[in-house]
Amino acid sequence: MRKSWKVISVLLVVAFVSMMLAACSNDASGSGVSVGIVLPTKDEPRWVQDEQRFKDALSDSDYTTEILFSQGSSAKEKENVETLLNKGIEVLIIAPHDGAAAGSAVEAAKKEGVTVIAYDRLITETDAVDYYVTFDSIAVGAAQGQFLINNSEGSNVPLYLYAGASSDNNAFLFFEGAWSVLQPKIADGTFVIANSSEAEALQDKAELTRDEMSRILGQVTTNWDPNEAKNKAQTHLTAVGGELKGDVAILAPNDGTARAIADVFATDSEVTSYVVTGQDAEKASVQYIIDGKQSMTVFKDVRTLVKDAMGMAIDVLDGNTPATTGAYDNGSIEVKAKQTDVIVVEQTNVKSELIDSGYYEADEFTGL
Ligand code: GAL
Repeated sequence: MRKSWKVISVLLVVAFVSMMLAACSNDASGSGVSVGIVLPTKDEPRWVQDEQRFKDALSDSDYTTEILFSQGSSAKEKENVETLLNKGIEVLIIAPHDGAAAGSAVEAAKKEGVTVIAYDRLITETDAVDYYVTFDSIAVGAAQGQFLINNSEGSNVPLYLYAGASSDNNAFLFFEGAWSVLQPKIADGTFVIANSSEAEALQDKAELTRDEMSRILGQVTTNWDPNEAKNKAQTHLTAVGGELKGDVAILAPNDGTARAIADVFATDSEVTSYVVTGQDAEKASVQYIIDGKQSMTVFKDVRTLVKDAMGMAIDVLDGNTPATTGAYDNGSIEVKAKQTDVIVVEQTNVKSELIDSGYYEADEFTGL
């Protein structure tokens, strides 16, 4: 009997110690995860790019990470965050589906003492965000607007405006940047707005309020959905006469929507030529640019964003304070941020910016 108690107590001590080891080691053989990564959806090539770049960056990392997708649902996003919290994450890197709705998920993480890093898109209306890594989204819109100005001739050039999802804070920053350069050219008659009565009503106003932008986005949003973009473009072209066709300019917010819109304009016989913008340097759009079916894209080197986000996470895990270069007001607090510049890519610099930089391989494209 005495002997058996001894064996049991030794076994209990061993079990207790191994549990402690598993709990504090979120890597090596422990089933825990150090850094949880949550991305908005797998249905858009942009975020599949990020997943791959994270995997590339983490292939030889000591820290265990897990990447989950929210499939365009804030409820799924909350579930993903809870799954990662149960795995003992210490850092959460999250690109929200809906910037405001993500508040409850990150507040749950903060309650567990987890450091929250907003990725590419800002989480708004909550103080449960520690850091933000992003690209200069206003510069994205300004580059798109300037490209339309540089590639349009004469006056009264029909301008078709499209935007991202209102649930995405970036959509407002992109539009603000585009409007900052396009508005003076609308006011001086270079462009005439072809598809938004709200934007027409505001065309003499250089700086728009969030509400004013919301009214315009309400009319021209694509919700980042190529099908919605296609339907809107068809409706807009059906609604206008020949005076708003001919040589036109199209502000498309990203590559997925740009290709859908360009395909619609390309099939309208009254549209003699179109200049269309994009964003994200998706492979399919790079090919469209090479083929002259899309005019430009704004390249955002996701390798840099991943490096910045993981760099911050590792700083936190090592007990250091991550370096930041500025801050964003998210409506509740000033979120410390690190921002990366963007690059305009068109037919003339596809090779130098996307192939020579190692972002893509030449054999992934034809006609280069
Ligand atoms: C934005 C992001 C873009 C874009 C879009 C659609 O927030 O910055 O790169 O692709 O979402 O997912």
